[in-house]
Amino acid sequence: MNEIISRFASDVMGCCVFGLQFNTLTEPESEFRRIGEKIVLPNLKALIVSHLRVFSPKLVALLKLTETSPEVLDFFSNLLRQMEDFRKKESFRRNDLMQLILDIRDRDREKAQCNDNDDEDTSIIDDDALLSNIYMFYLAGFESTASTLGFCLYELSLHPEYQERLREEICTLLESNDNIASYEVLKKMKYAEMVIKETLRKYPALGYISRVCTMPYQVPKSSLQLTPGERITIPVLGLHYDEKYYPNPDTFDPERFTPENISARPRFTYLPFGVGPRMCIAVRFAKMELKLCLARIISKYEFRPCSKTEIPLQIHPRTFIMNSKNGIQLQVRLRPVPIA
Ligand code: HEM
Repeated sequence: MNEIISRFASDVMGCCVFGLQFNTLTEPESEFRRIGEKIVLPNLKALIVSHLRVFSPKLVALLKLTETSPEVLDFFSNLLRQMEDFRKKESFRRNDLMQLILDIRDRDREKAQCNDNDDEDTSIIDDDALLSNIYMFYLAGFESTASTLGFCLYELSLHPEYQERLREEICTLLESNDNIASYEVLKKMKYAEMVIKETLRKYPALGYISRVCTMPYQVPKSSLQLTPGERITIPVLGLHYDEKYYPNPDTFDPERFTPENISARPRFTYLPFGVGPRMCIAVRFAKMELKLCLARIISKYEFRPCSKTEIPLQIHPRTFIMNSKNGIQLQVRLRPVPIA
């Protein structure tokens, strides 16, 4: 499943971030797919750098270490240059992230010119900032969504009763809207929301999040005092598997996310998208993408475990974004089209 899901997630990001049809679903040999694979494949150097960044960010900066390979950076840097040139030359506009950032850059440049700063480019968005923002979105959005979808289909295949309930919700809502999975229809998919939330509880894309302390803080009911500059690691995985909040945490159970059950738990015991001003910027986008994909495939296909399905699933110990160690293999069956 991982291969096809990764291609889907990569195509979505290509379209919404770069405004390009990556077409990796139909052209698996494409350059976009090759680069996508390079980003996701577990890489020891990237893992070491990302951990070192938590414990000694200054050392990482000093040594100019980076998790991203020069080949990947060059690829995206060239791509961006070509896209920017094309849009300028052809006066082409499109409703995507690239356009938003280019517009901000143009607006800043105009402002700087009005302020008589013609000799100095005061634009906040230089080429490096453009590249890092676009690449960050691609990176943050591609693998997290792909792995969540994989885990979701895995759990649904092991729990046919949940899969059927989800299918009923999806088919009823789609039928009431001429089979169009519009934004409004997706918003009404309450059970899908519960299934996605439970998937992200069991398999949060990031097992921990980090923060830097900005003011002195005494941790309540403890002798622990935080001082500005200290780095804090928040154990998302630990919270999501804490029996106090989630009894039998290994069991997949979407009922944990009924409105009543959610309000019975303390805040911040569920952090799949982080929290505060630096939480995931694309929570609604990600949920819509996941729901849309589920709506399309669950209405047409049935997912079941097969002889190659790993139960229990092993998690890869070396990926930054949580992923399965040996991939997810499932049996997929086209559902018979209902006779009208
Ligand atoms: C199931 C899908 C996703 C999950 C589980 C997820 C989770 C997260 C988490 C845990 C963080 C760190 C938050 C923190 O430190 O408090 C984050 C940050 C971020 N995410 Fe997502 N994400 C998902 C999808 C996406 C998508 C689709 C995009 C882009 C379209 C995206 C863009 C970003 C960006 C740009 C940041 C950095 C925000 C910042 O530093 O201010 N994410 N995400």
